[in-house]
Amino acid sequence: MGRELRYLAVTTSTQDIARELAEEGAPEGTAVIAGEQQSGRGRMGRSWLSPSGGLATSIILRPPLARAYLLPAVSSVAVFSTLANLGVKAGIKWPNDVLIAGKKACGILIENALKAGELGYSIVGIGINVNFDTGSYPEIADIATSLSVQLGHEVPVGEVALQLYTELEDTYSKIDDPDLIISAWSQNMVTIGRRVSADFYGNRIDGTAEGVNRQGNLVVRLADGSIKEIVAGDVTIK
Ligand code: BTN
Repeated sequence: MGRELRYLAVTTSTQDIARELAEEGAPEGTAVIAGEQQSGRGRMGRSWLSPSGGLATSIILRPPLARAYLLPAVSSVAVFSTLANLGVKAGIKWPNDVLIAGKKACGILIENALKAGELGYSIVGIGINVNFDTGSYPEIADIATSLSVQLGHEVPVGEVALQLYTELEDTYSKIDDPDLIISAWSQNMVTIGRRVSADFYGNRIDGTAEGVNRQGNLVVRLADGSIKEIVAGDVTIK
């Protein structure tokens, strides 16, 4: 991962550049990294704040379609391990946010391109708040944090990127062992055991997150004792 690397000081979104490279046939593991994004995007149509001092990277992967469901787990475990290597204790919020001290320090956006019923490629976009003061951005001040805020000192963004590509390569190499990936993911998931609310096919449900199943769905127990499995979307930890 990242052995082929395109660096852009400023761009719209690394997702778009990675997509262009993937369409041109760039090899698996090719990464795009930007100093700043002007229209960084997040999950569910949200935008992603990407000022200077953040790590914004997109990596081209070409897993078999039958393994693509593991990418949120693979990528969030890689970020978790990267932060652990840097001395930061993080936690994964289902499906693939990475929190430090309960605040979001990393978001992951996975965009898949289907070609004739096969997975042409996946673009795994990872944004890590590294060296900027999240408190000076009102739109995220209450919900986000950064490595520099947590550590009290800056960390070279290149070092974080190098660690991330190394960890991603390592975790992705185990994608044919889904139980291993799901277990590394769930062991470090702060959502489990917590009261959550979630969207279940358009309805809000409230319950306790009991775990993740082998498909990666979040298993939530409701007050009446029934179980619901959340397939996609967002959950709020209460
Ligand atoms: C989210 O939490 O909603 C996902 C955020 C993903 C942000 C990253 S930054 C690199 C890549 N380029 C983008 O425009 N988005 C992803």
